[in-house]
Amino acid sequence: MLYGVCYYPEHWPKERWPIDAALMREAGVNVVRIAEFAWSKMEPRPGEYDWSWLDEIIALLEANGIEVVLGTPTATPPKWLMDRHPDLYMKDAQGHTRGFGNRRHYCYNHAEYRRLSADIVERMARRYGGHANVAAWQIDNEFGCTDTVRCYCDHCRQAFQRWLRNKYGEIGKLNEAWGTVFWSHIYNSWEEVVLPAYTVFPMHNPGLHLDYMRFASDAVAEYQQVQVDVLRRESPDKPITHNFMGYFAEVDAFRLAEPLDFASWDNYPNLHFDEKADPLNSAVQHDMTWGLKRQPFWVMEQQSGSPGGNFIFAMPKPGELRRWTYQAVAHGADAILYFRWRTCLFGAEQYWHGLLPHDGIPGRRYEEAKRTGEELQRLSGRWLGTGAGAEVAVIRSYDNEWAMDIQPQSFGHRYMAHFKQYCRYFYDRHIPVEIVSPDMPLGRYRLVVVPHDMLTHPASAAALHAYAAAGGTVVLDFRAGIKRPDNRMEERTIPGAYRDLLGLRVADYGSLRQGDTRPVTLVRGDTAAEGHGGGVWYDIVELEGAEAVAWYASDFFADTPAVTRHAYGSGTAYYMATEPTPALMDALMDRICEGAQVEPIAGIAAPPGVEIARRTNGEKDFLFVMNHDEHSATLALEEPLDELIQGVRHAGSVRIEAGGVHVYERASLRRD
Ligand code: GAL
Repeated sequence: MLYGVCYYPEHWPKERWPIDAALMREAGVNVVRIAEFAWSKMEPRPGEYDWSWLDEIIALLEANGIEVVLGTPTATPPKWLMDRHPDLYMKDAQGHTRGFGNRRHYCYNHAEYRRLSADIVERMARRYGGHANVAAWQIDNEFGCTDTVRCYCDHCRQAFQRWLRNKYGEIGKLNEAWGTVFWSHIYNSWEEVVLPAYTVFPMHNPGLHLDYMRFASDAVAEYQQVQVDVLRRESPDKPITHNFMGYFAEVDAFRLAEPLDFASWDNYPNLHFDEKADPLNSAVQHDMTWGLKRQPFWVMEQQSGSPGGNFIFAMPKPGELRRWTYQAVAHGADAILYFRWRTCLFGAEQYWHGLLPHDGIPGRRYEEAKRTGEELQRLSGRWLGTGAGAEVAVIRSYDNEWAMDIQPQSFGHRYMAHFKQYCRYFYDRHIPVEIVSPDMPLGRYRLVVVPHDMLTHPASAAALHAYAAAGGTVVLDFRAGIKRPDNRMEERTIPGAYRDLLGLRVADYGSLRQGDTRPVTLVRGDTAAEGHGGGVWYDIVELEGAEAVAWYASDFFADTPAVTRHAYGSGTAYYMATEPTPALMDALMDRICEGAQVEPIAGIAAPPGVEIARRTNGEKDFLFVMNHDEHSATLALEEPLDELIQGVRHAGSVRIEAGGVHVYERASLRRD
């Protein structure tokens, strides 16, 4: 297994390098990522190159048995380059230049920057692209991080106009799609079209706004493609990746991942002000990264100390690095690199803690990473390359997320918060899921959940119909089918394209105040069980073949269906007309999963706070049990199982310590 760190040799005197390399080797490090911000060290002045330091460090690492991932340095164009091209800075929506001083200060649509990026990448690739010690390329770094996708400069305006011309062909078609007759927005030419920049009130035309978000995301993918093309030409044998950011939604990660060989992402569980990290978040984002290519992924940056910019976030407690690493592996990571090797003595991230502290002397975190590495090197050969064998898909749609960002409809409501309600259910019940794009063939799943499918693209609507007709179970929810792909409202009765699939129509609807809920019952006419309610929204549904499985229990719509089920072909389609509270979600999804024959990972019962995830090669299952809680817990094993880390057989009641990890191996339970 590849196990390593992110390293910045340019931050340390050369005399320190051999010490670092030796400490890395001792810790079991066999891969490091380097160079992704080092443009001004590679090309200190225009056309003047210095590769000596990079040659040296690659050779030194090689001598220590450590491969490198080379990052292309385009996230940090040097000052001399910016001074030559002041129009390369991004502009914010108010037209202010976002100037020098941080990183990612470039516009993706700047033609000359694309050329300059291709040039530096080509030089790197010619020099190192065939080097035996180069394991892979990472393109740029976290496209979009720190609000760097949406730019409002003149290059972007012109590129947007070209993008629109290409999409619509005739300006009349654009006017029709966006409904520009509203408020006299009719455009006579492409050149007249604006960006959704600062205006008297932040409500642009929703069609324009969504197209701009799509365009901005496409621009990142196009920019990346420039580098992919160079690397394929100059370094054809080395795999290429980019380090994604899980929830981050300004770039369509499915599109960005398409030309890459594997996906990777940066996992920072403690990057928030709450005392305690919710392990669900890393689990969901691991699953998102898996779903980008439906294959094992890398964690390119794994938090290794307190994160910190101007403030310092929570320090990983003893055992946490190890547990986070196992959690990543459990969800399909085949390589882990800690960010960063040593805490830097200067710069904007001097409080961002690495495995080594500022003084460079190995301590608790280094020892923990070393021990974890030893365990994983001993065991991981058994499961490398495998997945979870998930039977459930949750569809992630950037289009729907963007449309809901533009018009949330209900105060405080967010696509991703809604999406996570489903993920939380599956996580709590130890049911593996795949988070996949709307284009994913669905045949392999028993259950497909499609949160907020507002913009019905004909192809995905047809795919869902076909999937259900062939025996699949679909879950759709409120706002499904209300819009056309151009972000105009559907004229058809809600749920539009899904009316026959769901066997109902929505006669009326309303948005609920933030935090407000209405009781929902699973027995018609009854008062709702404790905690069973619906929030955010209510649809008032009239059945046209579907049956109700839950009812509102108050307000003027009491006794009307809150959740429905419809037999469609050999399959079933459910509709959630409101946002179930967690207790109701659990009760509903238990029924839905039972009907779809979706089962939790079998054989181990665990209390809340303990996560169970699986990797399987079809012959053997590897069950990762992680106690994220601060107290020890008791597992109940149905049958005796081999625990791999300790190398003992467990049976019956088994104690797992606070923060502990067990990995069980067993013969796969084969299903039809
Ligand atoms: C990531 C980024 C790294 C580093 C780290 C800590 O987002 O890729 O370069 O900045 O966070 O901030």
